[in-house]
Amino acid sequence: MELRQVIGRRRSIRFLLPYKPVEPEKIQRMLEAARIASHWGNVQSLRAVAVFKDSAPPEVHEALTAPIAGYQIRIAPVVIVWYVETAAVDEQSDRLRELLKAGALGFGEGKEQALEEQIIPFFESIRENFKQPGMNEIDCGQGIAQATLMAFEQGLGTCCLGTPHGEQIRQNLGLPETARILLLQTVGYPAESPEAGGQRPRQPFEKLFHMNGFGKAFPRSKAVVKELGEDGMLQESAPVPWREAELEYLKNALGIKGHGLI
Ligand SMILES: Cc1cc2nc3c(=O)[nH]c(=O)nc-3n(C[C@H](O)[C@H](O)[C@H](O)COP(=O)(O)O)c2cc1C
Repeated sequence: MELRQVIGRRRSIRFLLPYKPVEPEKIQRMLEAARIASHWGNVQSLRAVAVFKDSAPPEVHEALTAPIAGYQIRIAPVVIVWYVETAAVDEQSDRLRELLKAGALGFGEGKEQALEEQIIPFFESIRENFKQPGMNEIDCGQGIAQATLMAFEQGLGTCCLGTPHGEQIRQNLGLPETARILLLQTVGYPAESPEAGGQRPRQPFEKLFHMNGFGKAFPRSKAVVKELGEDGMLQESAPVPWREAELEYLKNALGIKGHGLI
């Protein structure tokens, strides 16, 4: 599938086939995609524990909770617990040295000296700041996004779930104190139709993006919109007309109680 279609057709899949296990190789491909994402200073703070419902100890699976549409965790064959390892920042100097050796950073004679005497001391002086929520999370998001696209490309559905119980989950999973839970991502084979109700609503392009200054909407070419529509990246907004009937069917099939929002 073309990248444009992967980007356009991916959406959060909240309804998964609970009985169909996910091959570990498919999860590995997601993790491989996450591993090669960009990260500031090549620090690579993104980490994960993939919890397989079939094989994880019950107490590990029970440790995973999310407050919004949390039934998804009960249904999902796999939950990836993504977290940021803030201690990775402590190794940043070595990551920079590796970049230099790989030819990715700087040029010519004297670059080693400049790195050791200027760049590394600069980063070390603000090292603790870099452990706070911010840049690392952005880069972890890039990795999770790549993993999500890889999941979709392999026929899997996923949904990211935020949780206010990150610290509890960290302790239950035995992660180091330097770890900060980012989110839980459910993974499985979709029980929903591939449209999953249609493309989810988005704010107007011109409201979000600017050109050459705030308030000057980035001009949105109709020809580009048409092209991306033809390529399958931009699609009709949700919902498709039969969505309510599909949701009713899924609710019954998956034993979801009430309105399913919590
Ligand atoms: C960081 C993050 C946390 C999210 N948390 C939840 C959640 O707790 N429950 C849920 O049902 N969906 C959650 N979502 C999914 C969003 O609601 C979803 O991405 C959004 O509605 C847009 O839909 P789409 O992903 O299908 O385009 C989360 C998504 C992200 C990126």
